[in-house]
Amino acid sequence: LAPDGTAAPPTQRGVRVPPGVTVFDAASWNGIAIDSTCGGHGTCHKCRIQVTTATEVAVTRHDVRTFTSAQLAEGWRLGCLVHATRDLAVEVPPLTTRPKAATVGIGRQVILRPALQKRYVELAEATLADQRTDLVRLTDAIDDLELTADLHVLRRLSTVLREADFKVTAVVIDEALIDVEPGDTTAARYAIAFDLGTTTVVGTLLDVGTGTPMAVASMLNAQQPFGGDVITRISATMMDKDALGRLQQAAASTLSALAGEVCREAGVDPTQVYEVAIAGNATMTALALGIDPEPLGVAPFVMSAAQPPSVLAAEIGLTLHPRARAFFFPALGAYVGGDIVAGMLATGMDRDKRTRLFIDVGTNCEIVLSDGEKILSTAAPAGPAFEGGAIRCGMRAADGAIEVIKVDPHAQDGDPAVTLGVIGDVEPKGLCGSGLVDAVAELVRVGLLDPSGRLVPDEDAKDIAPALADRLTKIGEERVFVLHRPTPDADPAECVYLSQRDVRELQFAKAAISTGWSLLLEELGLEHGDVQQVLLAGSFGSYLSPASAVRIGLVPQLPVLRIVAAGNVAGEGAKMALLSVRERAGALALLEEVTYVELSDRPDFNDAFVDQLSFRH
Ligand code: FES
Repeated sequence: LAPDGTAAPPTQRGVRVPPGVTVFDAASWNGIAIDSTCGGHGTCHKCRIQVTTATEVAVTRHDVRTFTSAQLAEGWRLGCLVHATRDLAVEVPPLTTRPKAATVGIGRQVILRPALQKRYVELAEATLADQRTDLVRLTDAIDDLELTADLHVLRRLSTVLREADFKVTAVVIDEALIDVEPGDTTAARYAIAFDLGTTTVVGTLLDVGTGTPMAVASMLNAQQPFGGDVITRISATMMDKDALGRLQQAAASTLSALAGEVCREAGVDPTQVYEVAIAGNATMTALALGIDPEPLGVAPFVMSAAQPPSVLAAEIGLTLHPRARAFFFPALGAYVGGDIVAGMLATGMDRDKRTRLFIDVGTNCEIVLSDGEKILSTAAPAGPAFEGGAIRCGMRAADGAIEVIKVDPHAQDGDPAVTLGVIGDVEPKGLCGSGLVDAVAELVRVGLLDPSGRLVPDEDAKDIAPALADRLTKIGEERVFVLHRPTPDADPAECVYLSQRDVRELQFAKAAISTGWSLLLEELGLEHGDVQQVLLAGSFGSYLSPASAVRIGLVPQLPVLRIVAAGNVAGEGAKMALLSVRERAGALALLEEVTYVELSDRPDFNDAFVDQLSFRH
């Protein structure tokens, strides 16, 4: 319905869904609401749709009870009972009621159907004529859910019912009754979405009743002292038998500190937070759960389980509602983890007919390619260059880091030959990952770096870029390009510069990544130009200049408008899992849908890698 209540004109949309899902779920996942009060369980008979594809769709006994023979012949069916096993054209009638929805991720409309529900009920007191048990009295009043109750709830139920004059709120997660609260507490329905990154952890407190983010906080992962990347943290557990416990404790303290901060900021009592969703890579997930990560770090790179079990938040060290649940995203492989599954949810990689490439740039780079039919994923070990590691003047993206660079090879009359964008607008101290990519891309553009990645000789530099030639110098035996001099006559070693070795480091990193996506393109028989959108994700990828990424060959050769910064998609996916059980099921369905491609045992990997080292595109 349009906002004024009139019927909105029909929209035509093609969407891609996992085979076998119901039309009801498929529509819900794609932000198309179908009438329902039973939530897709086949009992309300409201989810009427018309299948307009010529092929026959099975008629169920529920369809027979709901539609006339003429309607059945016209393709009318109950949407939650039609399974999409092949292409279907379906018409969805306008809604009689407007569902609540929230926009999350990359323009994803999520129809709110959270696992966490609260129901306020006013029950009749027990009498000699009505001796139903307290539990039956409660579950009879909430008859659209098949509630189960554990001992914790039963211990409280009788007391709370009587103290609250039988006016109580049932707290339910996935049809499990987790608590009974006195009075009407339905307004307090909170959950926290965590992006559990190796470097940074982000927590978002959500009101799942409205989809509104109430507060966001981020902090460095307290596991940092054990190493900057997953491999060093796995190694720590292999060398010291106490390290796993301490790493688990560090994850718990990071998540707890963030939970405390977002609750404080929003003025929410932590005991009113009933669920958390955690999107992390396979190693971060294992460490948070106290699972030995060693098999993830050594060939053949095996996970203990793709889908971690549902656990209580208290079991991973969070002090929220005592029965709050923690949902961990499943992983596709040891190096394509739950953060990427969450990212796929947030970007709708699996729900789109377009050919899209998702690249999460980091020490371990995860790549997903979908052509609208098949989805492939892989991981490429890019090394620490993008995080500032192994780069002479490298640093994290913090105050003082150069993140944007423009050069003018023929600048005259006092115009700047080098223009720098510096985080925090302070004196430049170093070069972060996006600055590194920009620096190399600019020097390739003006010809100071040749296609093999070599800084050109001084005599050539004077002809190619007269305004920049004096910035080419040496530190010891190594040639460098000076980006920033603190004083006009500063020694090169005191400057912020790009060295020949830095260029090599970036070449190896970009070659690892571009080998990954080029082999995936090859698997699907696609060319660069077939890619309709590239999504750059992760804390580094989102800040990368699309033009520079194309220039150095980090992404396919495409118009820059097809390259999109996706932002913190893992956190967005975690929010979606809290706001919709359908989205959560969609994340699990990805385990079946996505094919993992192992690059390291491909015979053509080395040749492809060597090809990709070049800056000639
Ligand atoms: Fe209720 Fe289909 S959604 S019967």
